[in-house]
Amino acid sequence: MKTILYMGISINGYIAKMDGDSEWTSEEDLKGFYEQSKNAGNIIMGKNTYIAASKSDYFPFPDVLNLVVSHKQIENKWGDKVIITNNTPKEIIKMLEQKGFTTAFLAGGGQLNTSFIKENLIDEIYIDIEPLVFGKGIKIFDEKDFEFELELLNIKKLNTNTIQIHYKVIKV
Ligand SMILES: NC(=O)c1ccc[n+]([C@@H]2O[C@H](COP(=O)([O-])OP(=O)(O)OC[C@H]3O[C@@H](n4cnc5c(N)ncnc54)[C@H](OP(=O)(O)O)[C@@H]3O)[C@@H](O)[C@H]2O)c1
Repeated sequence: MKTILYMGISINGYIAKMDGDSEWTSEEDLKGFYEQSKNAGNIIMGKNTYIAASKSDYFPFPDVLNLVVSHKQIENKWGDKVIITNNTPKEIIKMLEQKGFTTAFLAGGGQLNTSFIKENLIDEIYIDIEPLVFGKGIKIFDEKDFEFELELLNIKKLNTNTIQIHYKVIKV
């Protein structure tokens, strides 16, 4: 089982502005995001990402199993395309494995990304660096105590101003 994290970020590491706005990422970022999630067949997101995606009418993401992680009760109005869970990241990966998936697609936000990386559960990271800088916002990872080294797998220019960097997380 492989877990992929895919994020569009500002050059200083933010995935959203303070109000949760992340609609500044490029078409190419969104295209890559959809392609990778479709390949995996699933998409795992934290509650705040689910709320932001619902506001923009992206939720539930099409053709994939959507997993929303929250400690709170959220009514499932979407049937078996959506799972609301308070399982730990390890349990979530196990659940996907039991359902026959070979890749888990982690789609943020910063808090959930941190829960996964702290448990050594992210194998690859794609970051699409958008030509934008702003001073306050939501970071790709929360300010928690962890550290991992990465190995560069690929760099790709997505459009005139956006580059994608693909890393492997070196397991400790
Ligand atoms: N640029 C991009 O590519 C991109 C991608 C994805 C998201 N985003 C942006 O990121 C923002 C959200 O990020 P965020 O860091 O604020 O929030 P988040 O990680 O999406 O959600 C945080 C919430 O998820 C639940 N949660 C997280 N980890 C958990 C765990 N281990 N177990 C159980 N529940 C857990 C908690 O909800 P409860 O309090 O209900 O327990 C927590 O408050 C949104 O604005 C979104 O637009 C950007």
